[in-house]
Amino acid sequence: MPLALTRTSEYKTPMQIRPSSQADLPHVLHVERTAFGYDKEAELVRQLLADATATPLISLLAYDNEQPVGHILFTRARLMPDEAAEISLLAPLAVVPQAQRQGVGGQLIKRGLEVLTDAGVDLVFVLGHPGYYPRHGFEPAGRHGFAAPYPIPEEHADAWMVQALRSGVIGRVRGTVMCADALNRPEHWRE
Ligand SMILES: CC(C)(COP(=O)(O)OP(=O)(O)OC[C@H]1O[C@@H](n2cnc3c(N)ncnc32)[C@H](O)[C@@H]1OP(=O)(O)O)[C@@H](O)C(=O)NCCC(=O)NCCS
Repeated sequence: MPLALTRTSEYKTPMQIRPSSQADLPHVLHVERTAFGYDKEAELVRQLLADATATPLISLLAYDNEQPVGHILFTRARLMPDEAAEISLLAPLAVVPQAQRQGVGGQLIKRGLEVLTDAGVDLVFVLGHPGYYPRHGFEPAGRHGFAAPYPIPEEHADAWMVQALRSGVIGRVRGTVMCADALNRPEHWRE
């Protein structure tokens, strides 16, 4: 069921967030290319959407008057060594330049976290801007004992973040996050 949202800024046009289907792949790739300005993330998303080790995954598109303006992807990950929690990885998040700073990215994160909570996920991880994701509930993961798939240099340690979707998980579990195969390359872990 599509979710109608009103933007948080002066824009009053309704925005919709919907799960993307295979038929929406051109929209997903368009948003990724336009937001980042190059092909790398679009290619990563294409690979992840076809990667069995990334499932179950959550892929959401934001539409403004039926124009795709934002995309977010959460893929399955595993906490090693003992898989003591259900975990997911946010990568990437993309909003086209003309729709940025209007709350679209925040609404995509919020909706994604709701879907993950309903699916029973305990922890969500992201490697991203430490000035952005803490606005949406993320906090540095390293200090809680969670290592990224590849070492994050000390000066960028705060870019590796976690959010608990259930109380009592942080502090009870720790370990190294193992990501889907398509993400499991060092070039995807440089911040
Ligand atoms: C980062 C991105 C997803 C944010 O989407 P958005 O819809 O513009 O975000 P929101 O409207 O929810 O939030 C906007 C706020 O976040 C801030 N913000 C955006 N990018 C930021 C960053 N890299 N670091 C810190 N703050 C950032 C904006 O300055 C704005 O702050 P303000 O409300 O005080 O003006 C979008 O700018 C984007 O797609 N950028 C290019 C791709 C990218 O870098 N993706 C993130 C990969 S981790």
